[in-house]
Amino acid sequence: MSRLLVTGGAGFIGSNFVHYVLKETDHTVTVLDKLTYAGNLESLKGLPQDRFNFVRGDIADAALVDGLVAGADVVVHYAAESHNDNSLHDPRPFLDTNIIGTYVLIEAARKHGKRFHHISTDEVYGDLELDDPERFTEQTPYNPSSPYSSTKAGSDLLVRAWVRSFGLQATISNCSNNYGPYQHVEKFIPRQITNVIDGIRPKLYGKGENVRDWIHANDHSSAVLAIIDKGIIGETYLIGADGEKNNKDVVELILKHMGQSPDAYDHVVDRPGHDLRYAIDSTRLRTDIGWEPQFSNFDAGIEDTIAWYRENEDWWRPQKSVTEAKYKEQGQ
Ligand code: NAD
Ligand code: DAU
Repeated sequence: MSRLLVTGGAGFIGSNFVHYVLKETDHTVTVLDKLTYAGNLESLKGLPQDRFNFVRGDIADAALVDGLVAGADVVVHYAAESHNDNSLHDPRPFLDTNIIGTYVLIEAARKHGKRFHHISTDEVYGDLELDDPERFTEQTPYNPSSPYSSTKAGSDLLVRAWVRSFGLQATISNCSNNYGPYQHVEKFIPRQITNVIDGIRPKLYGKGENVRDWIHANDHSSAVLAIIDKGIIGETYLIGADGEKNNKDVVELILKHMGQSPDAYDHVVDRPGHDLRYAIDSTRLRTDIGWEPQFSNFDAGIEDTIAWYRENEDWWRPQKSVTEAKYKEQGQ
């Protein structure tokens, strides 16, 4: 049994991880989360209260972080400003949380000699051509495109430097696009599902040719647990489940499962600097750690996700109109 400190545990992937850990292991979990617009305590309902604790606070608050890290065995760092579109309109919070917040956490982990796992993204590698036979590997050079991905790249480099210069006991994982329950309605899949529920046509940026490599949030969680357990200190592991799909195909799949015509969507203005394609080669994770994804059927995963949003309107409804109003201002 270990005591995990999970930053950003009230967000999409963090909350999925907390549910997963408390179900699959005997670890205890303390969540540290600022509850920004993206954090939601409702995502942490129904957890065993004897093994779960929630602290509202900022990862950049050094005094608060110091005490919490001292009382943990492992820090699992999910907290971030995570949405590319937001980073294009107001980058500053991305620097404060993703760079300074990570710095504060690794300083505390180094001081107290604690195991640290840093959650990052495939976006640090930039993008690929549609016909590129190569996929991202741990050796791909960093080449981030957006304010979001550049701050994530910066945070990864901080962790690497702290490992080398200070002996920080850290691992890093870079995962592809997640889907599943508890994802904010600003993100692609939940936005389109909740649009259709509301009678609004899905919105495809540009031509819809951009490719994302989809993985279920539970597969991300099992990979992170496996890396914490078996990963080698200082190493980076790419997490992906061979789920490449272009955005047009994803929208058409959602429309099909929601009983709509496959062309019932609109093309809207493209995202500036829009990465064309992400694709992960997760060979190292599979061969060195022995991890395998469990959710290989994207079609079935999307059906389950649609059902979750239909059944949990109370969870997403409060965010929907404000999110759509923001997109409308941007012509998206
Ligand atoms: P999210 O936006 O849904 O959740 C982020 C959480 O962090 C929220 O609960 C928010 O309140 C909290 N937070 C933000 N700033 C904070 C601060 N200063 N102090 C404390 N808490 C703060 O994000 P997500 O999609 O769940 O992503 C989680 C992590 O996974 C991020 O590090 C992201 O870069 C990474 N990641 C995401 C994906 C994806 O597909 N969403 C893929 C790969 C990696
Ligand atoms: O690759 C991992 C990354 O995946 C994470 O690091 C990020 O935190 C996460 O937000 C996600 O980034 P993307 O920018 O790929 O995700 P998003 O859901 O914003 O968009 C997915 C794709 O869909 C992208 O090509 C843009 C497009 N899109 C998005 C929205 C919101 C649309 O076509 N229409 C939309 O309405």
